[in-house]
Amino acid sequence: MCGIVGYVGKKPVLDILLDGLEQLEYRGYDSSGVAIKCPDAIKVYKAEGKLSNLREELAPHAYELAKSTMGIGHIRWATHGAPTVINAHPHTCNCGNLVIVHNGIIENYKELKEELEAKGCVFKSQTDTETIAHLIANIYGEVKDLTKAVQLATKRIQGAYALCIMHNDEKDKLVVTKRNAPLVIGVGEHEFYVASDVPAIIKHTKRAIYLTDNQVAVLTPETMVLQDENGKELTPKVEILPWEPVALSKMGYKHFMLKEIHEQPDVIRNILVGKLHTSNSPIILDEVKVNKETLKNLNRIQVIACGTSLHAAMIGKYIIEDFCGIPVDVEASSEYIYRKTVTDEHTLVIGVSQSGETADTLTAIKQSKARGSHILIITNRPDSAMAREADSLIPVSAGIEVSVAATKSYIAQLTSFYLLALYMAEIKSSMPADKLTELKSGLLTLPQKIEQILAHKENIQKCARKYSSTRDFIYIARGINYPTALEGALKLKEISYINATGYPAGELKHGPIAMLDETMPVLSILMKGSVYEKLLSNSEEAKARNARMIALTNSDDEKLDDLFDYIIRVPEIEELLSPIIAMIPLQLMAYYIAEFLGKDVDQPRNLAKSVTVE
Ligand code: M6R
Repeated sequence: MCGIVGYVGKKPVLDILLDGLEQLEYRGYDSSGVAIKCPDAIKVYKAEGKLSNLREELAPHAYELAKSTMGIGHIRWATHGAPTVINAHPHTCNCGNLVIVHNGIIENYKELKEELEAKGCVFKSQTDTETIAHLIANIYGEVKDLTKAVQLATKRIQGAYALCIMHNDEKDKLVVTKRNAPLVIGVGEHEFYVASDVPAIIKHTKRAIYLTDNQVAVLTPETMVLQDENGKELTPKVEILPWEPVALSKMGYKHFMLKEIHEQPDVIRNILVGKLHTSNSPIILDEVKVNKETLKNLNRIQVIACGTSLHAAMIGKYIIEDFCGIPVDVEASSEYIYRKTVTDEHTLVIGVSQSGETADTLTAIKQSKARGSHILIITNRPDSAMAREADSLIPVSAGIEVSVAATKSYIAQLTSFYLLALYMAEIKSSMPADKLTELKSGLLTLPQKIEQILAHKENIQKCARKYSSTRDFIYIARGINYPTALEGALKLKEISYINATGYPAGELKHGPIAMLDETMPVLSILMKGSVYEKLLSNSEEAKARNARMIALTNSDDEKLDDLFDYIIRVPEIEELLSPIIAMIPLQLMAYYIAEFLGKDVDQPRNLAKSVTVE
């Protein structure tokens, strides 16, 4: 969700900025722009839509910009004002001397804007960001020092921001700062890189500095000065990034999403290595820092997350309650943060997030931490803001996920929940030994079973084509796979824009059944186990209303052939582990429908990979 880049050094800046923005495209955006420091003045170029439009806009200026070695860039995901050229960043003050890019939302921008307009500032855009440009420029007019002006201005700003700022009168100087929005500084030889995320800098350097909230860094080719919001000098902490630049290739797949779906067997293998050796050995989960006595006596867990991570959390609840007998509440972070939640030092709070930067989840985590709860974070980004808040950190190690639609990170979150639930069940002795062994042995077989599904993906592709012209889609399931129905529907919605909804099948007759007729596809996630027969009856009810019935099943029951128009079969698996197996065909189904419809699979409209605003 918005991405900023910046560079100051000795190399030509334009390609560095454009390439950096390209690496951030996965975050989701609808316009882009750069500001380049030229010998006479800073020049700004912007475009609507994809980065290719900005490249076109820049092409006639390539020669005059070729020697520039400092600049900032931005991809914008519209919040205040439509995705137009005027609203695209960088934004400038009245005279154009000060230029900024911003990621985040300024909550008090209306008051500030009124005040600044009264002082003669003329606003060109509808954005909240332009307020910051005018505010800093106004203060700069008085103090004549960019760093100081930024420090004073940010004290007046409410909301979230990562900012990268240049001024015509401050030669070779980039000023950056942040509050509740991600920002990383890459340290090179006689150069610094600035970005919202590591992929934009990793091919240049592995040495990085993460700013903490309210810190201000002043960068020139040779120096970095780090200060707190009051100008007190601080010592920067340089970290070595655990990233490889090759991670961002499609490796021959048409889309990142398809590649990431295919990576899932190895993702599970990687997670299990070192944690689960054989079905008879205990789970090793040293990442959990809660002492064993406390874990044994834990009487409440809360899990907070958004979107796909929320669905993983719902399955986490199911298995922790089943394996360990501990009550678990799951809540969308955006709801959790605006009510009086009962959390204290006796509650284990688990935050689940692919990006580790989701604003709502981060706020929820900080609230629970302030109330004394132990914070366990399950994330794919051990370098994220949430990871830095964690008392216990379970990195899910799925590797960077580029496609906006989460796939491998979801499967990795689920695998981590299984390990956690089994680990706690072993400590609490809450599960019979033979059941534990069966589940561990089942976990170890998952990668191979997913490979079997991937090897027969043509059947799913055929099904996707058959149903791709539908406007609506219903997914039904019961028990542990109800969240799978929600996640299957979310995947389809996100990338194909088909109106898909997941229901607990028992709820169909309480309302949604009114929607059914011969145009409506209903997909039943029919895994063998405790609710199989019940779900079969619910599917009969849908069939009786002429719905177009699809089964996703691990049963070879012949009566399914009469009931369903299309059957997708998956390998046998213990019911409690079936959400992982059931999800793979649903990811493929969503992918093939969207691909068939010609949608922008990896960067669906309106969506952002990292949702850094509330
Ligand atoms: O990074 P997070 O897991 O915290 O993100 C939460 C949601 O924004 C995310 O899962 C979103 O729903 C994805 N687009 C799902 O595909």
